Amino acid sequence: MKLANMKLSIPAVLAGAASFVAALSADEWSKQSVYQVLTDRFARTDGSVSAACDASAAQYCGGSFSGLTKKLDYIQAMGFTAIWISPIVANIEVPSNSGWGQAYHGFWAQKIWSINNRFGTADDLKELSQALHDRGMYLMVDIVTNHMGYNGCGNCVDYSTFDAFSDSSYFHDFCLIDYSDEWSSNIQTCWEGDNTISLPDIRTEDGDVRSIWFDWIEQIVSNYSIDGLRIDSAKHIEKSFHAPFEEAAGVYTIGEVLNGDPSFTFPYQDEMSGVLNYPMYYWLKRAFGSTSGDFTELATGIERVKNEAVNSSLLGTFMENHDQDRFPSITSDTALNRNAIAFTILQDGIPIIFQGQEQFYSGNDQTGRAAVWLSGFNTSNQWYKLIASLNQIRNQAIYKGSSYVTYKAWLPYTDTSTIVMRKGFDGNQIISVLSKTGASAADKTLSLTKSVTGFTANQNVVEILTCKTSTTDSSGSLSVTISQGKPLVFYPKSQISGSDICA
Ligand SMILES: *[C@@H]1O[C@H](CO)[C@@H](O)[C@H](O)[C@H]1NC(C)=O
Ligand SMILES: *[C@@H]1O[C@H](CO)[C@@H](O)[C@H](O)[C@H]1NC(C)=O
Ligand SMILES: *[C@@H]1O[C@H](CO)[C@@H](O)[C@H](O)[C@H]1NC(C)=O
Repeated sequence: MKLANMKLSIPAVLAGAASFVAALSADEWSKQSVYQVLTDRFARTDGSVSAACDASAAQYCGGSFSGLTKKLDYIQAMGFTAIWISPIVANIEVPSNSGWGQAYHGFWAQKIWSINNRFGTADDLKELSQALHDRGMYLMVDIVTNHMGYNGCGNCVDYSTFDAFSDSSYFHDFCLIDYSDEWSSNIQTCWEGDNTISLPDIRTEDGDVRSIWFDWIEQIVSNYSIDGLRIDSAKHIEKSFHAPFEEAAGVYTIGEVLNGDPSFTFPYQDEMSGVLNYPMYYWLKRAFGSTSGDFTELATGIERVKNEAVNSSLLGTFMENHDQDRFPSITSDTALNRNAIAFTILQDGIPIIFQGQEQFYSGNDQTGRAAVWLSGFNTSNQWYKLIASLNQIRNQAIYKGSSYVTYKAWLPYTDTSTIVMRKGFDGNQIISVLSKTGASAADKTLSLTKSVTGFTANQNVVEILTCKTSTTDSSGSLSVTISQGKPLVFYPKSQISGSDICA
């Protein structure tokens, strides 16, 4: 029951929503490139770039919807066409000295019918949505339906503090999840959290709970003109919830299924249009995370995505997010980081870049959430430019032929330290030459035959990260030199004429 198959039923579902604008279909989402925002940590209303924010203290730092609205140029100029923002509803207020810190990330809901006033007003959020749409960009919002949040000791929850679900009957009995068996049903019926912060687990299988959620999501999507949803903790909710929830929302949903096993994660796409590609996250981390990384597993993984994903064009591909160590903390090698970013944006699926990657932020799931304003929103560094160039070439290939997104990437050439990835066809293919040798490696020259690249004899191709043009020889082979372990990205020169790529 993917959204693509449900198009006809959407107008009926939304018939009552007067202010609803056109929703973005799954088909359209496959062409987007997404920038992930933690609203509290992106930009402040006053535009200040010096306001202190100690990420390790896990407190609110003062980012807001209005601050974000004012900084959309910074995001759009990197080639992104959509943003995913952290959860928007009112969360529990936690004393600043509490063990897990405050709910600045938004995942501890208390009142689902109210907007979190730490980030601004409902009107501020509407303005953000409008500002995005005015630019031809789209809004994805993070949605938590699995649990509420409560500051306290396991089972001591005062349910009357919640709106909605203000009674214990809406919740599973208290038990903490045992993560040792992800296939066990306790993953869905026991509680996330611990004895410091309780995350009471909602009985999403019950009809009365579902009707509240479905009514709520229809209103939220309509009131704020939301284009897509990221579903938090999707594996902690019974599978049968997801399809009717997506149908009620009437927009593309992409689930967080935090599990590296494709046989566990990919089937969620039978229930919802998209799934975050956690299997690929682990494969790419182990491939580009060190100069002795595992390219064999990555190559197998690319084949598995091709053969096992329900629809690889609608997977979300990422190398960082708010829950994982940032890549520069896995390896400080700049060449490996550049290769991992190129792979993330140019493989199959919808690329998702976490705020701060463009500033080479490091850290873990707490310290890695440093405020972006502290970078001064600097657009001159190599990371910002790299991401901009990669998004730009992907956007161009999609503009030249939307079948670029459904074409499944494959590896026509591999050796012990190099992979060549090809995506697209008929003169609209992007050829990525990716390496794990690291920044201190000697130059390496390869001749890529026309059966590898699909380029023709005597064809001009541009390496879009250096803007150098080269020409294939009379047999169609392309000579390429990997320098300092950096990625190379080739595209036919004729396809960029008239654009501002390498102009
Ligand atoms: C996968 O999704 C894309 C984008 O919506 C669509 O164009 C394509 O037909 C789908 N492929 C399959 C096999 O369903
Ligand atoms: C949506 O807007 C309507 C009309 O202003 C309001 O009554 C309703 O509570 C809003 N719903 C949500 C979930 O924000
Ligand atoms: C922005 O980054 C560049 C490259 O790292 C650096 O040279 C420049 O000084 C920075 N500008 C500001 C205002 O910090």
